[in-house]
Amino acid sequence: MKVAVVKETYPGEQRVAMVPAIIPALTKNGFEVLVERDAGIAAGVTNEQYEEKGATLVDSRDEAFKQGDIVLQVRSCGMDPDCDDSSRVRPEQIIVAMCDPLGQAIGVRDFAETKATLFALEMIPRITRAQSMDVLSSMATVAGYRAVLLAASELPKMFPLMMTAAGTLAPARAFVIGAGVAGLQAIATAKRLGAVVQAYDVRPAVREQVESLGGKFVELELDAGKSEDKGGYAKEMDEAFYEKQRALMAEIVAESDVVITTAAIPGRQSPLLITADAVAGMQPGSVIVDLAAERGGNCELSEPDQTVVKHGVTIIGPTNLPSEIPYHASQMYAKNIANFLQNMLDEENEGCVKINLEDEIVCGTLAARDGEVTCNRIRGILDMPLIETPETQEEPAPK
Ligand code: NAI
Repeated sequence: MKVAVVKETYPGEQRVAMVPAIIPALTKNGFEVLVERDAGIAAGVTNEQYEEKGATLVDSRDEAFKQGDIVLQVRSCGMDPDCDDSSRVRPEQIIVAMCDPLGQAIGVRDFAETKATLFALEMIPRITRAQSMDVLSSMATVAGYRAVLLAASELPKMFPLMMTAAGTLAPARAFVIGAGVAGLQAIATAKRLGAVVQAYDVRPAVREQVESLGGKFVELELDAGKSEDKGGYAKEMDEAFYEKQRALMAEIVAESDVVITTAAIPGRQSPLLITADAVAGMQPGSVIVDLAAERGGNCELSEPDQTVVKHGVTIIGPTNLPSEIPYHASQMYAKNIANFLQNMLDEENEGCVKINLEDEIVCGTLAARDGEVTCNRIRGILDMPLIETPETQEEPAPK
């Protein structure tokens, strides 16, 4: 099969779905790799580097779609309103990409009309076998790191404790809310820069991970006992819980120079955890980076892709931090995709994939096929009748 890599078109997107270093992993399995000319330039990868690793360059997006049996993208399916690929996609084609299937389910419904097959990489189940394919974890790692760098460059203070001839400078105090993948990376990065780091998560199980990175796990008098679902994800709590959490955290927020918020509930709006009043209680010059800004935000005053200053506090709401470190973000994404394709290899036909719906990873990630939206989580959002689910498939997502 021919695997085609196209140039990303989404505004500001600098990543690319495949990098030269990972191409041998595909060609070794018998795939032929085509790359649209200049697809990697924004990520710091040249056309020649792709060719050196065995890819063939094609001159246009049309050509990549025309020749590719499998098309790899970072963002697909209507995520870029100015680039409609529906006339390029062929029914027998397989698209492997991120497409925000729960946030923009309509894009999946429209894609289904092409009759082609779509794998939405955001839906890779968080199970041990799929860890090496988990693009959300990869991208959250990059985002957590970058969030701290953003905060450090905005903060009018340095992070580390410094004892100088001109006196002692106190270290910055960072508070990370939500210690999932992004949060843990933020803790590690803030710690490496020398800040004193505290963190809180509703899942008490992460305490040890926070402490192993040198952070202090904040104890709140909250009954978070039922906060974790079977899959280890946070469940949505009721409003009374969040109200109490906001009140208890306001003091810690007030004494922090930097607050990084990453609290997420899969498929839902992010919980509001920092009110405008809590922001007003912070010292002027403090910085909040709200990684959840795209899904409503953890901070009441954050705005997606904006930097706002309120009560002297700088609040940053980036929605695409991985794209700001495109070289490594692309490398991780490409490796995740190569592992995903490797899992689908057809043992009887070299260089081909086989869609085995009994495989939890394949089934969980399949969003559309043969003209149908195949995933009940997406169908639920679209008010479509649910299809009979194999045991492995998840419940429909809440609206
Ligand atoms: P994750 O699911 O690994 O972690 C989220 C954490 O938040 C979990 O540990 C969960 O227990 C915790 N949480 C949920 N409710 C909470 C509450 N009320 N209080 C404290 N903690 C709570 O998610 P991941 O992969 O770390 O992503 C985190 C966030 O970062 C998500 O919103 C994701 O969309 C966002 N993200 C943003 C990017 C950007 O460029 N802005 C890039 C990548 C991820």
